[in-house]
Amino acid sequence: MPSLLEQASKVLHNNWKEAFTIPCEGLYPFQWNWDSGFIAIGWAHIDMERAKSEIRSLLKGQWKNGFLPHIVFHNESKTYYPGPEVHAAHLSDQSPDVRTSGITQPPVLGFVLEELYRISEDKEDILSFIDSVYDAVYQNHHYFYTNRDPQNEGLVYICHNWEAGTDNTPVWDFIWSTFEVPDYELDRKDTKLIDASHRPTNKEYQYYIHLIELFKQWKYDDAKIAEGSPFLVQDPLFNSMLIKANESLIALGKLLRKNNKVAQLEQWQEQALQAMNSKLFDENLQGYVYYDLRNERKLSHLSSSSFTPLMAGIPSEERAETMIEHLHRGSFSGENDENFLCASFDPSSEFFNSKKYWRGPVWINLNWIIYRGLKRYGYEELSEKIKEHTIHFMETYGFYEYFEPSKELNKTLDKGYGGNNFSWSAALTIDLLTNKL
Ligand code: SER
Repeated sequence: MPSLLEQASKVLHNNWKEAFTIPCEGLYPFQWNWDSGFIAIGWAHIDMERAKSEIRSLLKGQWKNGFLPHIVFHNESKTYYPGPEVHAAHLSDQSPDVRTSGITQPPVLGFVLEELYRISEDKEDILSFIDSVYDAVYQNHHYFYTNRDPQNEGLVYICHNWEAGTDNTPVWDFIWSTFEVPDYELDRKDTKLIDASHRPTNKEYQYYIHLIELFKQWKYDDAKIAEGSPFLVQDPLFNSMLIKANESLIALGKLLRKNNKVAQLEQWQEQALQAMNSKLFDENLQGYVYYDLRNERKLSHLSSSSFTPLMAGIPSEERAETMIEHLHRGSFSGENDENFLCASFDPSSEFFNSKKYWRGPVWINLNWIIYRGLKRYGYEELSEKIKEHTIHFMETYGFYEYFEPSKELNKTLDKGYGGNNFSWSAALTIDLLTNKL
């Protein structure tokens, strides 16, 4: 029987397509943005050249204004909807020659570069690679702070649920209820490939497609999107990833003597940290929440995203302590520890669904982010618990896309949920097993 590490490595090798890695055969057959970031961390432990290639391939999809799309369609595939013709990114005068989507995903590349630096045994070689891509990643941050922060608050917005990464979190229900959508003809493939009850509904997809149709009408012009998009949200996960990536670009920029860029990043960072703590923290819930910029209101629900600011060092020590109560004999763990950590949505909420994509199941990348955050704040025991639960899922069921949080229900299951042989589940398992923090 091959070791867990060998099995994880095999998943990455099988999903490798010449210069990049697909997230999952059939279900996600192209290159995805934040998937590639996590995947590159996995590759860095077993084949650094592939980690570099992953990042270079993703950056081939970068737009002239620094924007980095959530999908790069390097290859052909008929197993995914919506494909390149639906996204029609060529409508923007900023799009590149390669086909891409016109929406983005959480900006992880900055801290992925720092992870590669830490993992590499040849610091000179990796620093020269980082030097070759640094400006492109910096331009992506520049894009966010100049185009996605209309009130100059230090927080950037997302305009589509797919930009969040947490595609169908119940938080979005409160956005969908603010507008009507026409009946689009959907050509969904996902629900034919895996159990449809684990995926978003057709009604939700109508909203997803409607937003894309609006953006196409506006030729993906950011000013028009900021003015008209019914979905305009400041997301704690997205902003935490950007802040963590700022921090990494500052550290790497100092090594590379990029003084002007470091000074600009420090300026963005100062404002961003302050804004996260003043605007996105909910005192009643004791956690970070989403802010609906279009309708000027907090969306006060706890989700796994609420804990991601820990990885970026955003909360004070006191705030961190009260936040993690939710993970420790709180609503996420269950009072008697009846849940595996960490459900993607508050298990005590009426909107929680333990099987449905981002409405409850455990996701490995969020576990990895929270694990890193707990380590950063010195919560050794709790971080080890999250790591153990994550490895337990992999060992028991394999490298699925997401998992059942209830310990009781797990006893009745013989697999995880969603796609199998999922790349970031494998890549981050490699990191958890290998990385000495
Ligand atoms: N996660 C999305 C999907 O399910 C795409 O980004 O298609």
